[in-house]
Amino acid sequence: MSSELEKIKQTVTKCTKCELSKTRTNSVPGKGNFQSDVIFVGEAPGRNEDKNGEPFVGIAGQRLNRALEDAGISRESIYITNVVKCRPPNNRVPTISERDACHDYLQNEISIINPKIICILGNTAFNSILGGSEITKYRGKIVKKDKQFYFLTVHPAATIYNQELIAILKQDIIKLFDLIKELKKGKEILADIDYSS
Ligand code: URA
Ligand code: SF4
Repeated sequence: MSSELEKIKQTVTKCTKCELSKTRTNSVPGKGNFQSDVIFVGEAPGRNEDKNGEPFVGIAGQRLNRALEDAGISRESIYITNVVKCRPPNNRVPTISERDACHDYLQNEISIINPKIICILGNTAFNSILGGSEITKYRGKIVKKDKQFYFLTVHPAATIYNQELIAILKQDIIKLFDLIKELKKGKEILADIDYSS
């Protein structure tokens, strides 16, 4: 891991910037390949993540792993993180002030890794990072904002309750990695939604 990411990890581990520090077992810093072309961003750690201190290691993580595997992508090749790094009690959605308190960690992860694209997993990340809502309506779309590309897809946990989303998540991940190939070739990509001025 890059030494800069290692520093963030250590800060996150000890962080007490918001109330979630009082109820967590472990903080959950981002994890993965710091040279990845893509950062996946989820919502917040759940029970298993809180126990282990690692992102996406519970049921949602298994769903994500399956979709990646089906698309021929190894989990080790990518970087995964969350909007907030500590588990909200009973897995409630993190509040705006918790997201704000944790915001700089995500921003720093993004600037250190400098990914070609950021993959937004579900509504909380969509809302926190791009101000969006209704991910099921916008999933599969490419967004450009301030020279950064984003790709929108459903949260892997949503595939547990809605079986139709299993195929959709897989299809989106295949599209995402096709897109990354084009970006690496230097091909011009047209965003479906462009916030750039
Ligand atoms: N759900 C998330 O959004 N993130 C995790 O790390 C695990 C479950
Ligand atoms: Fe710090 Fe983020 Fe955890 Fe809040 S959620 S205590 S800001 S690391």
